[in-house]
Amino acid sequence: MANLNVTIAGLTLSNPVMPAPGPPVWNGEAMAACAAAGAGAIVSKTVSVRPAQVPTPNMAQVRGGFLNTELWSELPVEQFIEREYPLAKATGLPLIISLGYTAEEIADLAPRVRPFADGLELSTHYIGDDPTPMMNAIRAAKDAVDVPVFVKLSPFRDMKSAAQAAAEAGADGIVAINSFGPCLGVDAETGHLLMGSQGGYGWLSGTALKPLALRCVFDVARAVDLPIVGVGGISRGIDAIEFFMVGASAVGLCTEAILKGPQVFGKVVREIDAWLDQHGYNSIQDVQGLAIRNWEQRAFRTHHVPPVLDVDACTGCGLCETSCVYDAIRVVDRKAVLDEERCYGCGLCVSRCPVRALALA
Ligand SMILES: Cc1cc2nc3c(=O)[nH]c(=O)nc-3n(C[C@H](O)[C@H](O)[C@H](O)COP(=O)(O)O)c2cc1C
Repeated sequence: MANLNVTIAGLTLSNPVMPAPGPPVWNGEAMAACAAAGAGAIVSKTVSVRPAQVPTPNMAQVRGGFLNTELWSELPVEQFIEREYPLAKATGLPLIISLGYTAEEIADLAPRVRPFADGLELSTHYIGDDPTPMMNAIRAAKDAVDVPVFVKLSPFRDMKSAAQAAAEAGADGIVAINSFGPCLGVDAETGHLLMGSQGGYGWLSGTALKPLALRCVFDVARAVDLPIVGVGGISRGIDAIEFFMVGASAVGLCTEAILKGPQVFGKVVREIDAWLDQHGYNSIQDVQGLAIRNWEQRAFRTHHVPPVLDVDACTGCGLCETSCVYDAIRVVDRKAVLDEERCYGCGLCVSRCPVRALALA
């Protein structure tokens, strides 16, 4: 069994999988359910100085992803302090309390939630592109409390400069990313938009978000020397491994826990463990940043390099033949045959082969 312990900004977690703020952590019982299911830490739903007026409907599954137009919590912070945070603390897991948004609001909220907080996470979702309000919010949190302050970045910002500004203001860690938008969903049967927000817009999360989230974590990891919690489209252990490989130290899940329930936390932890074991790694740290290092050493090439075909592994399923617009692969007698002269080296067949009989050279 691999060592799944991670330390982020001084917080030691028994495993690197935690909820990201949203409905799966909307109250104390929900947070306790995430803990019981195997999460390594709890991150609570974002609260601000006043309860949100959340439009309805505000969540919908869409092909490959998920739309929402939830805001921060509809519950008052007083209720979190009296009831929800104590229930979350009773789990014994580190509790990271998500707060929004401006410096004034953070200065008001941070000392009030401090008795329950092992860390704070500041959402920057609604405070604009200029990094100054984010920096002021970080400074307000750092002035008010002595626990690590994480900053959650939204993907419509320049990740590198946002992360550098966060580091300059004293952030102890970065969470990347929040949902992406504005986006739109339509129900063709009714002719209505899926979201009940003023503009009709929703924000994208779930599987479709993962490549964007990976890119953002990759950019942040190369810009600052801070621990990163990777969030966006994680539903399996291997998704988490990909985030570790681009520099994350831990991961957060929201949409998958909405769709499948809190059991996903334990499932993803077990899958990370199994993957590390199967690949001969002893810890998260063994894979952390691996894809960055490989990418830095990789030669940029434009000439056509055909893939390497493992004929014994090939099952003759024909997906590679279907995928090859250059007619460079044919299945003959239930085995792929590669025409290296015709191959453009695009790599698509490699990414689609279900048994990894094709590999990039
Ligand atoms: C319904 C819903 C509500 C959310 N509420 C919050 C929130 O209150 N604060 C926050 O920082 N992020 C919020 N998020 C964003 C998630 O925490 C997460 O960053 C994003 O959904 C991407 O991760 P995922 O693909 O695992 O869901 C919300 C997401 C969803 C789907």
